[in-house]
Amino acid sequence: MHSPAPAASMSQAKRPIALAVRGLAKRFDRPAVDALDLTVYGGEFYVLVGPNGAGKTTTLRMVAGLLRPDAGSITIDGIDALADPVAAKQITAWLSDEPMIYDKLTPFEYLEFVAGLWRIEAKPAEARARELIGWLGLEPHAHERCEGFSRGMRQKVALAGALVHDPKLIILDEPLTGLDAGSARLVKNVLLERVRAGGTVIMTTHILEVAERMADRIGVIASGRLIAEGTLEELHRKTGKTAASLEDTFLTLVAEPVAQPIAAE
Ligand SMILES: Nc1ncnc2c1ncn2[C@@H]1O[C@H](COP(=O)(O)OP(=O)(O)OP(=O)(O)O)[C@@H](O)[C@H]1O
Ligand SMILES: [Mg+2]
Repeated sequence: MHSPAPAASMSQAKRPIALAVRGLAKRFDRPAVDALDLTVYGGEFYVLVGPNGAGKTTTLRMVAGLLRPDAGSITIDGIDALADPVAAKQITAWLSDEPMIYDKLTPFEYLEFVAGLWRIEAKPAEARARELIGWLGLEPHAHERCEGFSRGMRQKVALAGALVHDPKLIILDEPLTGLDAGSARLVKNVLLERVRAGGTVIMTTHILEVAERMADRIGVIASGRLIAEGTLEELHRKTGKTAASLEDTFLTLVAEPVAQPIAAE
């Protein structure tokens, strides 16, 4: 863990709320997100975990303003994101689990282009692009077109693009999937640095070790609902598994059927 977990209930009362989700609902052929309440505090690293199809991506897409909820409210740093999506997007970064970048541009051009969309002036934009390229170890490819890039490299370019406008709330869906150990560490360090600088991160992952090591608090989603939330210790306590791994606790919380070994003949 990057810093001692805040003594949850004690300090949270005074902390500003970066993201408040209340009664959020989205239905496709059946409910994907179902009356979900979620609170993330300013400067917090919050990790959402949950089984496949639990509603994590659907939740984050609604928070990022890409999908209209059927019901509920989303407040980002005090801004009603459904009433004023433009203001909400200005302070938000979104990294999809299938990042899109422009193949014909180099990483450097892409970052300058994104900075231009945010109306950042040329000089600070260039400095910011260089900084992000450095942090993510993209220097050797900074001036090559993205079209030949591997998935992991594209992911890093997309992350850099998401961070160009210095967002307060960083929303990431499976940002570490498909990254090699070195790249994963670079991305984790960039995110931890953003949190240290006062930013807020909410991300999903299936890599429980990442949740275990990086999260201030972990939220467990199953069937579109938040079924448990807290620091790692609080989640362990909830299941009565004090010496357990997060994997044990997670599996207990979501009560996944454990595969039975095939009986020997
Ligand atoms: N665009 C869509 N159209 C129809 N159904 C959808 C759509 N997007 C999501 N769903 C359904 O909503 C439910 C939640 O999906 P979601 O992608 O949010 O889960 P998830 O928790 O992100 O899962 P995973 O861990 O596999 O990424 C699933 O049943 C899924 O099939
Ligand atoms: Mg998903």
